[in-house]
Amino acid sequence: MIKRTAEGIILFRKPKRLEIRVLTDKIVNVFITDKEEKRKDTIAVEKKSYPSVNFEVKEENGKLFISTKSLDIEVDMETLFITFKDKKGNIINEDYKEVVIEDSEVKCYKRLREEHFYGFGEKAGYLDKKGEKLEMWNTDEFMTHNQTTKLLYESYPFFIGMNKTHVYGIFFDNSFRSFFNMGEESEEYYYFGAYGGQMNYYFIYGDDIKEVVENYTYITGRIELPPLWALGNQQSRYSYTPQERVIEIAKTFRKKDIPCDVIYLDIDYMEGYRVFTWNKETFKDYRKMLKELNDMGFKVVTIVDPGVKRDYDYFVYREGIEKDYFVKDKYGITYVGKVWPGEACFPDFLQERVRNWWAEKIGNFIRDGISGIWNDMNEPAVFETPTKTMPEDNIHVLDGERITHREAHNLYANYMALATKEGLLRERPNDRPFILSRAAFAGIQRYAAIWTGDNRSIYEHLLMMMPMLMNIGLSGQPFAGADVGGFEGDCNEELFIRWIEAAVFTPFLRVHSAIGTKDQEPWSFGKRAEDISRKFIKIRYELLPYIYDLFYEAYRKGYPIMRPLVFEYQKDENTHNIYDEFMLGENLLVAPVYLPSKERREVYLPEGIWYDYFNGDVYEGGKYYLVDAPIDKIPVFVKEGAILVKQKPLSYIEEEEIEEKIVEIYNGEKGKYLHYEDDGKTLNYKKGNYNLFNIEFDYHEGEVNIKFEKLHFGYKGGAKKYRFVLKNFNGVRRVIVNGREVENYEIYIS
Ligand code: GLC
Repeated sequence: MIKRTAEGIILFRKPKRLEIRVLTDKIVNVFITDKEEKRKDTIAVEKKSYPSVNFEVKEENGKLFISTKSLDIEVDMETLFITFKDKKGNIINEDYKEVVIEDSEVKCYKRLREEHFYGFGEKAGYLDKKGEKLEMWNTDEFMTHNQTTKLLYESYPFFIGMNKTHVYGIFFDNSFRSFFNMGEESEEYYYFGAYGGQMNYYFIYGDDIKEVVENYTYITGRIELPPLWALGNQQSRYSYTPQERVIEIAKTFRKKDIPCDVIYLDIDYMEGYRVFTWNKETFKDYRKMLKELNDMGFKVVTIVDPGVKRDYDYFVYREGIEKDYFVKDKYGITYVGKVWPGEACFPDFLQERVRNWWAEKIGNFIRDGISGIWNDMNEPAVFETPTKTMPEDNIHVLDGERITHREAHNLYANYMALATKEGLLRERPNDRPFILSRAAFAGIQRYAAIWTGDNRSIYEHLLMMMPMLMNIGLSGQPFAGADVGGFEGDCNEELFIRWIEAAVFTPFLRVHSAIGTKDQEPWSFGKRAEDISRKFIKIRYELLPYIYDLFYEAYRKGYPIMRPLVFEYQKDENTHNIYDEFMLGENLLVAPVYLPSKERREVYLPEGIWYDYFNGDVYEGGKYYLVDAPIDKIPVFVKEGAILVKQKPLSYIEEEEIEEKIVEIYNGEKGKYLHYEDDGKTLNYKKGNYNLFNIEFDYHEGEVNIKFEKLHFGYKGGAKKYRFVLKNFNGVRRVIVNGREVENYEIYIS
C-alpha cells in the first residue's frame, strides 16, 4: 500500500514501512521501520519543516517512481531497494541488500561505485576514507592518536561519496554508536548502521562537492558569524596560574609585539575544580585580573566542564540535587562518576529545564568580564571506567521521554553547547556568543567552534591536523583548529615554528599545552621562533578581512574555510587524496612542512597559474614542484586572478577601527570577489547592519578594469578607504576603477 503525503510517500510492505520525504530537488529523507513509531530527528537537524517542493509519484511494474527536478528515485516495492538516478537515467547510488532493522542494530547497504569517501568529521588517518571501517562514539582518547585510532571526541555520521560521474552525501541521523564500512569488507558494497535507533538518513545530491556540503548544511545548519576576536591568535595552557602569571603572559604578548586576542583559563582557576567558582588563593582578585586583561585588549575564555563536584556545601551541586537536574543510573539514582573534581554528577542537558538552569549559571559567571566559554570533557568523559564514559544504561530525559545514555551519549555535547550559548546570550543578548567544544555531534557548528582534543607535540600530529580539519570542514563544521605545538609532551623550537606557520592559515588558532610540559608561548623557544611566530601571526592579522569573508561564506553556504584541494578541483584526480596541502578559501593554497629538518617539500599545484605569496614567483599549475621552504618560510600560493582583501596587522582585533583596507589583485584574465564587513561583535548584522561589496576585474591588452560596487550598505562604521594593489602584473598601461582612469587606485567609501 502506498500513501502519498505532502512531503513524499509512505510505502507499507509488512512488516516494514518506508517513508520518503522530498525536502528539496536534491535532498531526500529516507526512513524505514518495522515498528509503530514516528521518525525521530536528532538535534543535528535544524529545521522542523521545509518549504514544499514539486515532485511526481508513479507506480509501474512493482516499482515506485518519485521524480524531482534533479533526481529520479526508484523503489522496488518488494525489496524496498532504493535507487537514486540523475535525470539522464544514470545511477548515482543504489541499495545493495535489504535494510536490516533489529532492536540492537540497523544497517543499510549500498553498492560501491568506485567512490572516494570524505567527511566523517574528526577522524584520524588521511583524507579519503575509501576501504576503511569507521565508528562514531564520542571518546576521550588519551592514548596517542594515530592512524589506527578509531574513536575520538566527536561524531559526524555524514560522508560524501564521489566518483568520476557523481557526488552525493549521506547523513545518517542516528545518535547511537554508529558504524561505517566503506569497502573494507567488500569490493561490491559499503554499509552504514548503528547499534540501536532508527534507519533514518538523508540522501544529498549535488552538482559538485560544494553543493553537497551546501545541501548538507541546509539540513544541519550553518555557523552564525563569530565575534571577530575569535579569529585572532589565542593562547592557552593547562593551566596559567596564579592570576599574576596570566597577567604576565598577557603583558609579554604586548611587550613583544605579538598579536593576541584571547587568553584561556584552564581548570586550575577554580576552587577544587568546582565549576562556576574561583580559586580563593590563586585567583583572589580575579575581578581585577579580568579587568586588567580586558583593558589590555584581551578576551578571557574560561573552561567549564560538565562534571559538578559532589559536595553538599557547594551551591551548584546542591541546586542540582534539589531540583533533580542530574543524569540518573538505570535504577533512577543520581549517577556519580569521577572527573577532575573527584566524584561528580552530570547535568542532563537534554532537558530544557536543566539547560535553563545552566544558562543562568553561565550568565552570572561571565558578568565580571569573561567573553567566552570552553566546554571540555563533554563526551562526557568519566575517569576510572573502561569505557571512558558513563554506563550506557544511564537515563536521560529528552522531550519528556526517558532515553538511555546509549542514545544520548553522542548528543550530550551539543545540548551542553546549546545551554552555554543560551547563557552567554542571556547576559549579553546582542553579543555574538563564543564557545569552544571538544565533543560534538553533527550540527555543532550552530553552537560552537571545536578543537581536536589532546594531540601531542609530534610531527605526526602536525600532519594529522590537516586531513582531520579538512574532513571536519566537509562535515559542516568550518570553525575548527588543533592545539598548536601539540598538547601532550614537550614541544621543541623547530616543531613549534612549523606548527605556527601552518596553523595561522587554519580557521581556529590557539596554542595549548598540557600540565607539566615545557612552556609553549611563542617566545619560549628563543629568538628565532619568537620572530618567526610574530611574522606569521601578523600575516594572519593582515589576512583577517579575507578570513572573515570566508566565515561569511560559511554562514551563507556552509562551505569549509580550510578545505581540501578536491573541494575546488574535483575533476583533477591528483587532488583526490591530497591531505598534506590545503586551501584557505578558493584563493590561497598552503603546503606546510611537517617533518623535521626539511628545507623543501613537494607541492602539487592544480591547473592555472599560481604565485608565491611571499616573493611573487610564478608557477604553472597541473604539476608537482619541489619548493624551497627554509625554516622561516611555508609554501603558500595565490591563485591567478585572486582578489585578497587585507588590513594592517593590529596587536588585537578591537585595537582600532580599520580605516583603510587593501585589495590585492593578482594577475589573471579576470577575477571576482565578495567582501563582507560589519561591526564584528554584535548580532546587528542579522538586522541588515552590514556591508557587502562586489569586487571584479578583467585584464586585457594592458588595461586593468576594476569594478567595485556596493551590493548592500547597512553599516556605517566600516573602512573608509580601499586601496588597490596590483600583484604580478607587468605591462599595465591603464587602470580603470568604476569607469574612471585612476593613478593611485583608491576608493573612498561614503
Ligand atoms: C582535557 C582537555 C585539555 C585540558 C585538560 C585540563 O585533557 O582536552 O585541553 O587542558 O583536560 O582541563
